[in-house]
Amino acid sequence: MEQEVAGTGAVSKKSTWDAYHRDKTQIQPNLKVYIDRFMNLLDQHRQPGPCRIFELGCGGSQFLKASARRGWTVGGIDYHQESIDKTRKSLAASAPTEPELYCDDIFAFDWKSIEESFDVICSFGFLEHFKDAEKIIKLANVALKPGGLVLSQIPNLHLLNAGLMKKYDPELWSQHVPYDKKEFDHIHEAAGLEILMAAEYRGKYDKHMLTPWAAIRNQMSSFRYNLLNYSMSAFGRPARVLLPAKGMKRFSPSVVGIYRKP
Ligand SMILES: C[S@@+](CC[C@H](N)C(=O)[O-])C[C@H]1O[C@@H](n2cnc3c(N)ncnc32)[C@H](O)[C@@H]1O
Repeated sequence: MEQEVAGTGAVSKKSTWDAYHRDKTQIQPNLKVYIDRFMNLLDQHRQPGPCRIFELGCGGSQFLKASARRGWTVGGIDYHQESIDKTRKSLAASAPTEPELYCDDIFAFDWKSIEESFDVICSFGFLEHFKDAEKIIKLANVALKPGGLVLSQIPNLHLLNAGLMKKYDPELWSQHVPYDKKEFDHIHEAAGLEILMAAEYRGKYDKHMLTPWAAIRNQMSSFRYNLLNYSMSAFGRPARVLLPAKGMKRFSPSVVGIYRKP
């Protein structure tokens, strides 16, 4: 799928994902830490037993890998061919059945071809790249069984670190829509879902979340760069111990909500 679909409200371009997939560690080096937490949240809201799970923007997904290790059937869509190839390879050893991976634009995909075939639809760091995220949830709902769940996560763009992205990497900042937790719930409700777990700012402070270290290093003396890095570590350690793991708009790295198709 070489061409992008026009008029979708996407604020990122397909070409911008090359750098992300080449070096994911630039922005979220601790991504794996979050996988268990999201899996636990899902477990609290789903019926135990087998599961068919589908991820939006699944290129390079660690979550699908964790799902496959649990014996779940996994699927997903991403328009970035190399990242889909990588995901397929990484799932080869653990997936109990052939993963249902599609290399396509979410707006061009034939959702009817997988109508009502998944128990869970999830996304991580995907919806904030679209001005009209409700449109995406509406499309993806087609693939969800009645009673199925939607687990949606985006980085918290109201986090303290987000100011660094805005200042030192405005181009990257422009590829994000800073949804807050109320707007996040609204997107899902307007798409026809019920709220199971209202969106909340979640997780302990992480100095790496959204911090564009490479761009900062290019624009600061090494003295100032090291000082910033040191100060964020010095602040981060007590913050991780003292601050609660949710509800902190300036300090929690993620916004997460869980929804159900009636
Ligand atoms: C931040 S990444 C998330 C990657 C993965 N879910 C993870 O957690 O590692 C967002 C992904 O969405 C994909 N993407 C962006 N716009 C898309 C679109 N319109 N259709 C399909 N995939 C898209 C990008 O190629 C990228 O792989």
